[in-house]
Amino acid sequence: MHSLLFTIIALVVYHARAQATVTSTRTIALPTARPSNAFDVPPDFPSVGFETAFLPGYNNQFSDNLVASLGSRMGAKPIIRIGGTSGDIIKFDPGQAEAAKCVSTPCNSAAEFILGPSYFNALSRFQFARFSVQAPLTDGNPNRTNIIAYIKRAYEALGPSRVDAIALGNEVNWYENNAAQYVADAHAAKDAVTFSLDLGSSEIWEVVDTASEHASTGKAPYTVKGVYDAGINRDGRVKYVAEHYYQFDGKTLGIQAHLLNHTALRAKLANYETSIQYTRNIANGKFILSETGGPLGVSDDRQTLFANTLWSVNFQLYAMSLGVSRVTGVQRPEAKRSLWIPMSGLAVPGPRVQAPYYALPFIADFIGKTVSGNRGVINIDLNSAVLSAYVMFEGQTVARIAIVNLREYAGQGNRNAVKIKLNGIVGVNQSRVMRLHADAGTAAGGFDVNGKNITWAGQQWSYKVNQGKGHGTVTEKTLQVVGKVLELVIPDSEAVIVHLK
Ligand SMILES: *[C@@H]1O[C@H](CO)[C@@H](O)[C@H](O)[C@H]1NC(C)=O
Ligand SMILES: *[C@@H]1O[C@H](CO)[C@@H](O)[C@H](O)[C@H]1NC(C)=O
Ligand SMILES: *[C@@H]1O[C@H](CO)[C@@H](O)[C@H](O)[C@H]1NC(C)=O
Ligand SMILES: *[C@@H]1O[C@H](CO)[C@@H](O)[C@H](O)[C@H]1NC(C)=O
Repeated sequence: MHSLLFTIIALVVYHARAQATVTSTRTIALPTARPSNAFDVPPDFPSVGFETAFLPGYNNQFSDNLVASLGSRMGAKPIIRIGGTSGDIIKFDPGQAEAAKCVSTPCNSAAEFILGPSYFNALSRFQFARFSVQAPLTDGNPNRTNIIAYIKRAYEALGPSRVDAIALGNEVNWYENNAAQYVADAHAAKDAVTFSLDLGSSEIWEVVDTASEHASTGKAPYTVKGVYDAGINRDGRVKYVAEHYYQFDGKTLGIQAHLLNHTALRAKLANYETSIQYTRNIANGKFILSETGGPLGVSDDRQTLFANTLWSVNFQLYAMSLGVSRVTGVQRPEAKRSLWIPMSGLAVPGPRVQAPYYALPFIADFIGKTVSGNRGVINIDLNSAVLSAYVMFEGQTVARIAIVNLREYAGQGNRNAVKIKLNGIVGVNQSRVMRLHADAGTAAGGFDVNGKNITWAGQQWSYKVNQGKGHGTVTEKTLQVVGKVLELVIPDSEAVIVHLK
């Protein structure tokens, strides 16, 4: 009797918690045909990055499991970007036993490191991934010995098939005063690499890696076009133009204002459109965002929790709708905003999976592993700061719809919801809906971080449970299409994927 009563109470409480009150309704009309600007997003769009000098910290089974779990949902191997500020100032000592020795303070991504041969051991891990590595570049007269020491060892440790690109320096706008100077140094680096390695003849270079401070304000000292005009692609082997993106400095507070603000995201990404269009349409290259994050620094730990996950989902979806070919979530072991903390003993507790990791399986599933026909992604402009929607075509067919409800629910009090009416669904009578959910809303950091779970379609990633392999049963809900319309409720601070095939 007692336990039955308890069960009934528990069910009522659970129900109340899971419920959200619909306070608004929004109709979204699906396009009747594939728009001509739908972008055929490459299957290796989702990506992670490790700051160069900190690669050895990721040389463990846990990191390998998280990358493999992401890769298992993708139609191509994910790319790991090894790069960053430290990647330009590393030096190499062939007699050093230590993988990476910090020789300046503080030991952050702008510190000087000396690498030894064992640094490259980490590259034999991550067999489920391919890599972008960075040739260290400096202002004027690049150090050939240094470039060869790094690139040759990295290339040999990875093997040609796992090298996706070689970046020519990082955030070069900070130290190369004009396009001609960058191009001269980049060509010196290319010559050093091609002299010491047989790279074959395919496209391989990644260029500029423009700092977020320049790219997102439209105030770079020289543009992508300027770099091409100065001859960066004289050898015809530039593969990627890369720029960096951080949503905000992290110093100003306000989760809704910065991370959960679609208007702010659109305004900032608009500054990349000239570079994206030039790269794709004139230079015939691919445009990637090779270093990205929500807050650049972190002044409030809430900036690293579930709001950062929702930001990342919305950012990646919007970026792909603009024609961006890859987004790399960047990290170093003790950066608070990281996707995971790979080890213990750092300023941030670890090892643990952090909230933003959950954006990766969501994005991978939206892109789809096996598809019939060309992918094509578009944003549906809802003219809203807090609600966004995206459609993924396969060929001419609408295959998936992603919807993000960015209104903040911080875990206290009543949770509101928006009712969505998806109009114009043809050819199917039912859909499967998957949710990116946290009972605690933006207070959730995931099971490892604060025990406030985050789930993607019912699944979780945790160091404690099984070293990041992913666990839990896939949970989806089947909803009926009635007269070409599908109705669904999305609680505040939640994102969903609606599958129509
Ligand atoms: C050039 O690189 C090598 C290898 O890292 C290093 O030992 C040497 O000090 C560098 N030279 C200069 C001038 O920085
Ligand atoms: C969202 O961003 C826009 C543009 O930056 C800004 O004008 C607006 O105040 C922000 N919204 C909130 C709720 O802070
Ligand atoms: C959907 O349901 C209608 C009415 O029951 C039926 O006529 C139609 O064949 C169904 N379509 C599909 C694609 O299952
Ligand atoms: C949170 O996740 C852990 C690990 O999967 C699980 O043991 C626990 O029951 C979950 N808590 C809730 C409230 O679902």
